Amino acid sequence: MSDIFDEFIVKDLKLKNRVVMPPMCMYSSDETGKVMDFHICHYNARAVGGTGLIIVEATAVEKRGRISANDLGLWDDSQIEGMKRIVDEVHLYGAKIGVQLAHAGRKNETDEDVIAPSPIMFNFKYSLPREMTLEDVDVVVEAFGQSARRAKEAGFDFIEIHGAHGYLVNEFLSPLCNERKDEYGGRVKNQIRILKQIIKRVRQEWPDEKPLGLRVSAYEYDAHGNKPEDISFMINMLKDYGIDIINVSSGGVIDCKIDAFPGYQIAYGTEVKKKTNLPVIVGGLLEHHHMANEIVKNGRGDLVYLGRELLRNPYWVLQAARKLEYDYKEWPKQYERAK
Ligand SMILES: Cc1cc2nc3c(=O)[nH]c(=O)nc-3n(C[C@H](O)[C@H](O)[C@H](O)COP(=O)(O)O)c2cc1C
Repeated sequence: MSDIFDEFIVKDLKLKNRVVMPPMCMYSSDETGKVMDFHICHYNARAVGGTGLIIVEATAVEKRGRISANDLGLWDDSQIEGMKRIVDEVHLYGAKIGVQLAHAGRKNETDEDVIAPSPIMFNFKYSLPREMTLEDVDVVVEAFGQSARRAKEAGFDFIEIHGAHGYLVNEFLSPLCNERKDEYGGRVKNQIRILKQIIKRVRQEWPDEKPLGLRVSAYEYDAHGNKPEDISFMINMLKDYGIDIINVSSGGVIDCKIDAFPGYQIAYGTEVKKKTNLPVIVGGLLEHHHMANEIVKNGRGDLVYLGRELLRNPYWVLQAARKLEYDYKEWPKQYERAK
């Protein structure tokens, strides 16, 4: 039986514990999409606090793939240096670090050539997207590949493809926003085609021994939307192209209210784990050390993510170790007197 303080190994990535900081947009860059001093301080604080795996916020693979004008990007070689700074600093404090490669699709709020599988608006606050041409598909696939190359050059341990929350990849996967009549819409094998191309292209740049993850919205909160069994079916068709771990989230595909409570997404993650046989990162409104530990101990997820709780408390891991009376060996030596 594992707990949150056990190591976790996937491919060549060895994590010192099972606590993950999920990607969270900080909207703190500028038009350049480059890393700012804030990002260094922000990610470092969670590394010093003991987080096992940090996943850098949604990072745009194309300028028009940004969610906001303040997103980080890896669409240009000039953005590698700042990312390398984050990676090198975080490594100094014993955490491993990944980056979430993302394209906003119809949820691009910059109004810069908003593209999507089909011309359907998210809601009236967003632009009406332009239906992607086959050339647009090729450009996006190549952008993911080039960004993966840059992530490798920056020294990241892990790449996560953002396939959740109603952004571009998710828009193709969901019957709620993909009404295409060509080879990218209709049947499941068509809906997953762009993601398959992205995975294959990323894998040309990202070494086989390094893990590649996929974030999914396993439940879309609509009777006609994807559910864990649909998403698992898709993952099973894709995993042999090089997906090693699934980060399970939900929602964001349509504009609706979600009844969120601590642990509200865990069952979706457990179902994806069972149906795909891949390790899963699960979470959603987790705060309490016993609850996070229970999820791993009972095998309901392999790793747990704490988003907003880690924003409130970068030292969550150190505090959890103390409360669970775990003899934690990785305490930063400067802080040992607080142990
Ligand atoms: C400020 C903020 C920014 C977020 N940005 C992203 C993002 O860039 N990519 C992503 O997949 N999820 C994003 N999320 C969702 C989180 O990764 C996480 O799934 C969500 O907050 C639920 O976990 P929590 O209840 O522990 O915060 C964001 C959430 C917050 C609060």
